[in-house]
Amino acid sequence: MGYIQWSDNFSVKVKEIDDQHKNLIGMINTLHQALLLKKGREIQKTIINEMVNYAKVHFEKEENYMRQFRFPGYQQHKMEHEQFAIKALDLRDRVENVGFVLTLQVLTFLKDWLQNHILGTDMKYSKHFNESGLH
Ligand code: FEO
Repeated sequence: MGYIQWSDNFSVKVKEIDDQHKNLIGMINTLHQALLLKKGREIQKTIINEMVNYAKVHFEKEENYMRQFRFPGYQQHKMEHEQFAIKALDLRDRVENVGFVLTLQVLTFLKDWLQNHILGTDMKYSKHFNESGLH
């Protein structure tokens, strides 16, 4: 079982976005597995880089849909993405400059942020997107 387990509770009822969320969850699980196997040092740079880039693509996708469908919570949602992006970039910089930074504390932050964001914030656009014809 993964560190984060996908369940239907995470579904925003838009397949493309659910698939992206599954990929992000998969990356966090890969980091967790590597930490458990004491291989974090070897793979953290690759996966954290990949995650930072993928999160950017994912956030842009959601923001484009929010603008396209005139979702009223757009600004607040975008701000949450920006705050996360600052932290993720800082993490990437530390990996580049300091070396090994992957700890359970870092993973807990990533896990909690993603879970809370999907369940609390992303979920708010679900009905609006569905009613706009996006499934
Ligand atoms: Fe799925 Fe708002 O990030």
